[in-house]
Amino acid sequence: MRTQPLVRIVLVGGLLLAAGTATVHAADLSDAERGKIKFQRTCAPCHGAGPGSDGRAALPGTDALRLKYKGTVPALLEARTDLTADVLKGFVRRGSWSMPPFRKTELTDAEIADIAAYLAVSSKSGARTPVR
Ligand code: HEC
Repeated sequence: MRTQPLVRIVLVGGLLLAAGTATVHAADLSDAERGKIKFQRTCAPCHGAGPGSDGRAALPGTDALRLKYKGTVPALLEARTDLTADVLKGFVRRGSWSMPPFRKTELTDAEIADIAAYLAVSSKSGARTPVR
């Protein structure tokens, strides 16, 4: 089916309007809210709370940290109180064993600071990202 020019203009206009609105909303979010979205997309696939209700994780980041600290430090990043933006940046830029390093083109310093702001909140509120 061929779309009429007017229909096309209205469709493209609607898309542009939707994109503009989304940008305004993203700017309205707090550091911790932006950090939560970044954490869920970028870190939780390895550092999430893991499947199952028995508390056992099956994720590379969560499992490796469980083995590394043997319970002396929480295996979940969302439960840690010591991960400031500077500490996070050290691990995220260099990587850590099987964790890949992230370049500034993949994750900016501001985004790492947002994730640190989220971890400060989640460690107090008990918020956890389950794996879907
Ligand atoms: C591909 C999987 C993967 C992704 C994605 C990933 N990590 Fe990791 N991360 C790991 C693994 C595995 C370790 C543990 C390495 C080890 O054994 O020391 C780790 C370790 C860490 C540590 C070190 C903690 C400590 O005390 O040693 C921090 C901090 C960390 N990750 C933060 C992040 C953040 C923030 C993100 C998202 C931007 C992220 N990671 C994304 C797999 C991942």
